[in-house]
Amino acid sequence: MRVLAVGGAGYVGSHVVRHLVSRGHLVTVLDNLSTGHAKAVEVAGKAAAGGGCAELVVGDVGDRERVGELLVSREIDAVMHFAAASLVGESMRNPAKYWRNNVGCAVELLDAMVDSGVDKIVFSSSAAVYGEPTTALISEDHAKAPTSTYGMTKLAIEHMLRGYDQAHGIRSISLRYFNAAGAHSSGEMGEAHDPETHLIPIVLRTAIGLREKVSIFGTDYPTEDGTCIRDYIHVDDLADAHLLAMDALSSGAATTAYNLGNGTGFSVLQVVRESEQAVGRPIPATREGRRAGDPAVLVASAERAASELGWSPNYTKLGDIIASAWKWHDSHPHGYS
Ligand code: UFG
Repeated sequence: MRVLAVGGAGYVGSHVVRHLVSRGHLVTVLDNLSTGHAKAVEVAGKAAAGGGCAELVVGDVGDRERVGELLVSREIDAVMHFAAASLVGESMRNPAKYWRNNVGCAVELLDAMVDSGVDKIVFSSSAAVYGEPTTALISEDHAKAPTSTYGMTKLAIEHMLRGYDQAHGIRSISLRYFNAAGAHSSGEMGEAHDPETHLIPIVLRTAIGLREKVSIFGTDYPTEDGTCIRDYIHVDDLADAHLLAMDALSSGAATTAYNLGNGTGFSVLQVVRESEQAVGRPIPATREGRRAGDPAVLVASAERAASELGWSPNYTKLGDIIASAWKWHDSHPHGYS
């Protein structure tokens, strides 16, 4: 298939691009490189097989004319939409950036799809659409009460997608990622944010000596060891789900949403300990106050993705996820640069 991967130079996007090209798909990445890396697309493209290939077009998803031109000239069959501003804390300080970048640009992208008759889209949504969970495992029909502007924008886009289906017949699958983690098994691709805010890369960068210590945000949560619990899901498992979602849409699947997680939670302290095991040395960490907006526990029920998409994660052990991330960070301490 011919796929437009919007934001395909980012962490999750570039891993999906790699999976796509290695299975013979033709991928056009549209990315403004504000947080993504041209090198990530180049590395992903090298895995091409069976006629697959990846090209990078530097541009904005909010540029409806440009997107429309790409959809037509590349004869695109399906869109994957990864591009977003995605920092929960920043979204609280600068909501306009999130409403404009995430929601505003999604309107332009969907309008470009309407203009050019492309009718399938896989959308990167987030566990942040749920807010504070009321059940141990979060299933797709759990109440949606996002506690951050970031989560609100992801939920707004899901609503928008339903509206564009009703009005224009664009079918979509929204994939609600829990905590994306890990790196490609080759060690050639991985997470490279600047600034880095996510736990596992911060812990591993501390192990390398690029940071002095890990700050553990909150030790008084109602969890066994007092630190927050999250459901870490490997980026290659997320990538598999995108390909399954695209296949489902191609076979006529109706607009829907799926959680993507392992269904098991690990605390911040467990992540630090498992990382110490993976790197073979102690990692300095200090206990600090809570970070605003962090729910105590976020763990997915991903049964719907298993039964309807046939998705099952390969990386079910936190230690294996961290080991894959370590392979990348250890060999690329400065990311793609
Ligand atoms: N944490 C620390 N120290 C750090 C960084 C993080 O203790 O230096 C803690 C956080 O407080 C949290 C856990 O580690 O409890 C995981 O934090 P991350 O920042 O790695 O991930 P989040 O759970 O905050 O965020 C993820 C995605 C978001 C998404 C959110 C859904 O990265 O895009 O889940 O709630 F919105």
